[in-house]
Amino acid sequence: MDYTTIYEAAGGAPFFRELVERFYPKVQEHPLLAPLFPEDIRPVMEKQYQFLSQFFGGPSLYSDQHGHPMMRARHLPFPITRERAEAWLDCMRRALAETDAPPELQAIMLERLSGPAYHFVNS
Ligand code: HEM
Repeated sequence: MDYTTIYEAAGGAPFFRELVERFYPKVQEHPLLAPLFPEDIRPVMEKQYQFLSQFFGGPSLYSDQHGHPMMRARHLPFPITRERAEAWLDCMRRALAETDAPPELQAIMLERLSGPAYHFVNS
């Protein structure tokens, strides 16, 4: 492939919009994850859209608006167990599977997210 970033290979902004739209309903339905999230999920979806765009090599939307990501620190207020990290990744795996991204690309993205997910375990 001739693409420079995962962001571009996946399809850019429309892809990441779709991904968060598919991801958060799964989070909100998950018994281990739902209690951690606010009822109004829209602001979280917007931040995640910005963050994932940036994380996968797209425009620095998150940092432009919210400063240094410091993602582990931003997750410290929430009790994140290993089971919750696995649940988060499983919601992401299922959300990715509903997109048109090629399976190899889905696998790469999930692999890239699993490092941070386990790193955020704090309880
Ligand atoms: C390991 C399991 C994870 C759990 C249980 C979790 C849970 C949460 C919770 C509860 C929030 C705050 C929602 C609110 O605003 O009230 C949040 C915010 C966020 N999470 Fe996670 N998260 C996890 C993993 C990840 C991963 C792997 C990423 C990306 C690499 C990520 C990216 C974000 C972003 C960008 C925000 C918004 C931060 C902000 O407020 O600026 N999370 N997460």
